[in-house]
Amino acid sequence: MNEEEGHLPVMVEEVMAALSPVPGSFQIDATVGGGGHALRVLEAATPRGRLLGVDADPEAIARTRRRLARYGDAVVLRQASFERIDELARSAGFGQVDGVVFDLGLSSHQLADPERAFSFRAEGSLDMRFDPTRGVPARELLATLDQPELTDLFRRYGEEPHARRIAAAIVERRAREPIRTGVELGDLVAAAVPPTRPTGRRRIHPATRVFQALRIAVNRELEVLPVALAGAVDLLRPDGRLCVISYHSLEDRIVKRFVAAERRGCVCPPTLPVCVCGRAPRLAPVGPQPRRPSDAEVAGNPRARSARLRVARRLAA
Ligand SMILES: C[S@@+](CC[C@H](N)C(=O)[O-])C[C@H]1O[C@@H](n2cnc3c(N)ncnc32)[C@H](O)[C@@H]1O
Repeated sequence: MNEEEGHLPVMVEEVMAALSPVPGSFQIDATVGGGGHALRVLEAATPRGRLLGVDADPEAIARTRRRLARYGDAVVLRQASFERIDELARSAGFGQVDGVVFDLGLSSHQLADPERAFSFRAEGSLDMRFDPTRGVPARELLATLDQPELTDLFRRYGEEPHARRIAAAIVERRAREPIRTGVELGDLVAAAVPPTRPTGRRRIHPATRVFQALRIAVNRELEVLPVALAGAVDLLRPDGRLCVISYHSLEDRIVKRFVAAERRGCVCPPTLPVCVCGRAPRLAPVGPQPRRPSDAEVAGNPRARSARLRVARRLAA
């Protein structure tokens, strides 16, 4: 895979229009990945502007360091979870920024890497951690969770209708031999679920939701996202922009609720006659919520098909 072309940035024109980075502005890419969005932002924010790029994946940081090397000191890269965005930004001199972008999920590089086993096509050992030095790999969850816990995981994080059958098949298989690779898990799930009737529409692989669920659990994706969004809003200067691209409804729901809560400000129970929390609105949504990629983009980059972009503007304190 060509390092420059390995991952096409999703909805990049929409993100650029929303951020409108001008020379001298300070920007954060909280999921810098292959550097596709970051490169476009840097082109517009330099000279004088700077970009902080964060990614949990050490390989992504190493690759993007090479790709963005020509921007010298204008780029600061940090390998860490975006859960720590507030602290990372302040310690790197990004205490007040004009824009923050999150492009959630995983990159084409990660999906295509057989060693990480993010896919049911991967022959590598089931890991799925964005940061392979932290947390518990997927194979350990598959080996240790009991049947009700596995069922709950596939239901909660994959919205998988056959969660119970799949969990039972996993428990039955692992009593005989461990489930090691992406291909082994993909084949096991495909054999456990009833065959779907042809509908004429493009069908997803029967293990897609199970892989999504495991990835979400392994990386604590739904827990870290609200923390990171709150940290990002703390860093935005008035009129700064927050852009979030999500790829499944669980994630998008968190972003939607977060923006709605920050728009409302007050968190007092409706039974109270007057506000006692004193919280003021901090965000206003910008444009249609959510925005979807154009048909032309989806035709050229099928990975974009489930993308939803939400944009919000930081209100003055
Ligand atoms: C869709 S890719 C980003 C691609 C990037 N926008 C580009 O144009 O190349 C998502 C990235 O987010 C990273 N990521 C996911 N969860 C993370 C987290 N909690 N903290 C930091 N990075 C995370 C992944 O490692 C992955 O590289």
